[in-house]
Amino acid sequence: MVAVELKTIPGAARATRFVHVQTFGCQMNVNDTDRILQVLAPHGWVATDDPAKAQLILLNTCSVREKAEQKMLSQLGRLAPLKEHNDELVLGVAGCVAQQEGAALLQKVPYLDLVMGPDHIAELPAMLERMRGGERRIAETEFYKRKDFRFIEAEPRLGDGASTRVSEFVTIMKGCDKVCSYCIVPFTRGREVSKSHDMVVREVERLVAAGAREVTLLGQNVNSYGKDLHEGGGPLAARVPTFAELLRAVDAVPGLERLRFTTSHPMDAIDDLIALFGSLRTLCEFFHLPVQAGNDRILDDMRRFYTVADYLEKIGKLRAVCPDIALSTDIIVGFPGETEAEFEDTLGFLERVRYDSIYAFKYSERPGTRAAKLGDTVPEAVKKARLAKVQALQDAITHEKLAAMQGRIVEILVEGPSQRAARGTVPADGTTGGGFQMMGRTRSSTIVNVPVPFGEFWNKRWVGRLATVEIVEAKAFTLFGRFI
Ligand code: SAH
Ligand code: SF4
Ligand code: F3S
Repeated sequence: MVAVELKTIPGAARATRFVHVQTFGCQMNVNDTDRILQVLAPHGWVATDDPAKAQLILLNTCSVREKAEQKMLSQLGRLAPLKEHNDELVLGVAGCVAQQEGAALLQKVPYLDLVMGPDHIAELPAMLERMRGGERRIAETEFYKRKDFRFIEAEPRLGDGASTRVSEFVTIMKGCDKVCSYCIVPFTRGREVSKSHDMVVREVERLVAAGAREVTLLGQNVNSYGKDLHEGGGPLAARVPTFAELLRAVDAVPGLERLRFTTSHPMDAIDDLIALFGSLRTLCEFFHLPVQAGNDRILDDMRRFYTVADYLEKIGKLRAVCPDIALSTDIIVGFPGETEAEFEDTLGFLERVRYDSIYAFKYSERPGTRAAKLGDTVPEAVKKARLAKVQALQDAITHEKLAAMQGRIVEILVEGPSQRAARGTVPADGTTGGGFQMMGRTRSSTIVNVPVPFGEFWNKRWVGRLATVEIVEAKAFTLFGRFI
């Protein structure tokens, strides 16, 4: 779960109303929060991080694991008293829990005003208008039908430098057509629907014009991009670009320095994608390829449709075209029926691949999924122990990999003051120099902290710069460098 910093919306100076959004879950939700703010801005809404000041509070929720809903309910409980002092306040739930629960959530939570599924973001201003017109409680969670769904929401407004991050997300498709047995996402996000090629390219161009240097293309399964555009005929069916072609087009956007994407499913043919690493200028040497488990029986029950050997073959091809590529993955421990030996296969697998980083989760039973029928057989204590083992092993690998970076010369893209500075040691105007650190990422997505050079000052103008640095130290999980 990530709580996300809000950004101010350009052109909203005339606004008189405040919206507070809390974001949980994946990057898709982070991007949805941006879209929520973008559709509200022309109607005079300004983002605030103070819920007490807001006339609209939205929780943008995730339901991929069970704790999410309880967490959301307790957060709503904390916010509810604000309604006593503010008759105008609209309290809403957006995102995947909203989609999953629908109108039932209004029954469950009497003080909740609005339940909005991810397909309805564009209608938010209209829903708020309906409320001003007297409608008390609204739930909109129907999926758009696949063939008439077009990304109809207002296109992002041209931002100014202050509101666009150096590194931005662009959602290229919604939904997921895979059938992983444990996963709720196909229920909360519906079928795959791709944005048109032109719309994606235009969005990237706009972000770059507004100051972005890096974009990450988002989808639950980006390598399926465009497949749905074949269906149903229509003007788009005549010319359907593949994901690799989309990457080439985005790569050609002038001013873009770095391109990333997430996530791909290992089962899809990714040969055309692999071939792009090392040949597309902006495509960063980083690949997040979720494996979930290192045992074939478990993979089969997970309905992932590949074997450990299939997966290793793809990794082999990737490393052949791009030997330094950084790899990351997702792991689930304690899937129903997972034995100790099967779990150890996953440990062995991690030792074999030696990822740069991983995201590991305890299996969480989700209602309505196929895996839920298998029962949640691995005791919580065992899941916890397995998770700890996986993390300890990966920590050691990550640490070794970072230590090996010492002495290397790398390119970083400066994103801002380092976290230490962000916690308060650098004044907000950033004008005091001396001893402060800025934070950037390598192309392989490793964070590097670099002191502002002697005699120079921290300044916002550093943000968005590409710089060459030497890695001088690896402390725990952080790299420190110096400009050269
Ligand atoms: N579409 C992406 C991301 C899906 S959600 C993909 O397939 O990679 C991100 C991760 O959450 C998944 O990769 C999986 O590791 C984890 N996850 C999904 N459902 C889960 C569940 N029921 N319990 C535990 N982890 C889960
Ligand atoms: Fe879930 Fe599988 Fe789709 Fe990823 S590919 S969102 S894990 S169903
Ligand atoms: Fe969570 Fe929905 Fe993303 S369930 S992981 S916010 S798609």
